Amino acid sequence: MLSPEDNELLTRVGPGTPGGALLRMYWHPISLSREINKESPTKFVRVLGEDLVIFKDKSDRFGLIADKCPHRNASLVYGRVEERGISCVYHGWLMDCDGNIIETPPERNDAIMKNVKTTAYPVQDYLGMIWAYMGPLPVPPMVNYDTLFRADGTRKWLIHNELHANWFQAMENSMDPAHLQVLHQEFIGRGKTAISSTRGFTDDVESFDFYITPYGGLMKHRVYVNGMEDAHPVLFPNILRQGASSQFRVPIDDTHTMHHRLFFYPTEDGSEPEDSFDPEITFEAPIKEDPTKSHPETKFILHSVNAQDQMAWETQGPIANRQSEHLSYSDRGVVLLRRHTKEQIERVQRGEDPIGYQRDPNHALIDTNVDEGVRQIVMSRTHLEGSSRAEIEAAGG
Ligand code: FES
Ligand SMILES: [Fe+2]
Repeated sequence: MLSPEDNELLTRVGPGTPGGALLRMYWHPISLSREINKESPTKFVRVLGEDLVIFKDKSDRFGLIADKCPHRNASLVYGRVEERGISCVYHGWLMDCDGNIIETPPERNDAIMKNVKTTAYPVQDYLGMIWAYMGPLPVPPMVNYDTLFRADGTRKWLIHNELHANWFQAMENSMDPAHLQVLHQEFIGRGKTAISSTRGFTDDVESFDFYITPYGGLMKHRVYVNGMEDAHPVLFPNILRQGASSQFRVPIDDTHTMHHRLFFYPTEDGSEPEDSFDPEITFEAPIKEDPTKSHPETKFILHSVNAQDQMAWETQGPIANRQSEHLSYSDRGVVLLRRHTKEQIERVQRGEDPIGYQRDPNHALIDTNVDEGVRQIVMSRTHLEGSSRAEIEAAGG
């Protein structure tokens, strides 16, 4: 159980909220880069409760600015891009990628150009994604996680269905080892059927524990009766590295979340493929009868591990009511995540750097032990006959 105050603290993401301030300390993937192109040079995005427009100007620079024009609030989705930025279609105010107003037709107005700026955030085009940093200056570097920056492997994105729930429910699931053997029992049976659908494969697990990694991640670690182990870190605050995949949960607003999964497959001989940083892009099939609706107006199609997870996250409610829950021994990873996240929020409130935040652009590559994650998948794959690769890859969560 969590107090309503702490539930608010952990789940609200908008500007001015403490939880939103924590999330704004990190870079987030907010859109496929290819969706902003010559034919369609603007795209509306809502991120952390802010309505924004990504655009690509005719000098091939990406910008991320407030959707509402600073003149009289028309949407910049309809702006015309030019060499120097984007021009509002209503009266032609021209803004550059940094949010400066550089022209104000129909008449020149130096005072406005000097004094008015629109909200603009730094972006990077990396791995086929636009990444945004929406926090305070100085702009930090992206964190050098192995899955993002190692050159000795190939990558693939899987773009999941939008999650109609608060981001923190997905993160709590990442620290919840017990659900794997119950919720996902159809996909992890290794050809066997569970003795009871209630227990699933719970009895395959000897124990699990949780700890904080040297780079500030939170680990959940399982030991199986047959001696196998798995360990999946949460790369703080909103990435689960599980096997070959890193699952990014990027809040759209308090009750909607983007979910992108990046696979990294190391080469066996350490060679560096040419397309290492040019991932293939794939999309998850719909997982609801009506994907536009939420529970109970639509029904989930539980055809995959991720669909089962998403069903659990969404049916907890747009923001789970944590006053009505009854936590037990297996929820201690969830408790650790809540405590740890609250501590990081308080650090940001005191003006300190939260865990996982990097200031040095030349910081060393962070080894999340992705090779071990890939080995676990290969071991599992030999037992998971009849499952698709995506199911196998997802089955360790
Ligand atoms: S509303 Fe954009 S220029 Fe007037
Ligand atoms: Fe799961």
